[in-house]
Amino acid sequence: MGSEKRAAYDDLAAQLAALIDGEPDLVANTANMAALIYHGLPELNWAGFYFARHGELVLGPFQGTPACVRIAWGKGVCGTAASLGAAIVVPDVDEFPGHIACDAASRSELVVPLVAGGRVVGVLDLDSPRRGRFDDEDRAGCERLISVLLAHHPNWP
Ligand code: SME
Repeated sequence: MGSEKRAAYDDLAAQLAALIDGEPDLVANTANMAALIYHGLPELNWAGFYFARHGELVLGPFQGTPACVRIAWGKGVCGTAASLGAAIVVPDVDEFPGHIACDAASRSELVVPLVAGGRVVGVLDLDSPRRGRFDDEDRAGCERLISVLLAHHPNWP
């Protein structure tokens, strides 16, 4: 019933808290968080951030192949999650109308918004080469990791 997955996110949350402890730089901390997730979770081909900038999403720190730099609000999985302010689990990217293919290897995707001060300031995006890789436990796990990050950066720019 997913207790292994939960334990993996417990472990990642503890590692993330230790990594960012005492460090105020947002780029450094999100870069380390992307690397921690990418290397800490199985079956990922991309893990990283898009940040809200002047009404669109702009690529932030990530691990994986080079990706689309700008995504319009409301477009793709990332822009849709940002405009809804809610996480989206996509079991099969070919079934998501408007999915933006940055890495052709991606088969499934999880996008979780970063909500600070009542507004969406960005998204965390995970891609997998396996269909159906992400479930509700991954969503909850990523929301937990994001809450560790946001608690550390109460004055998100
Ligand atoms: N697939 C995303 C675009 C970002 S890449 O996966 C890194 C989307 O549809 O928004």
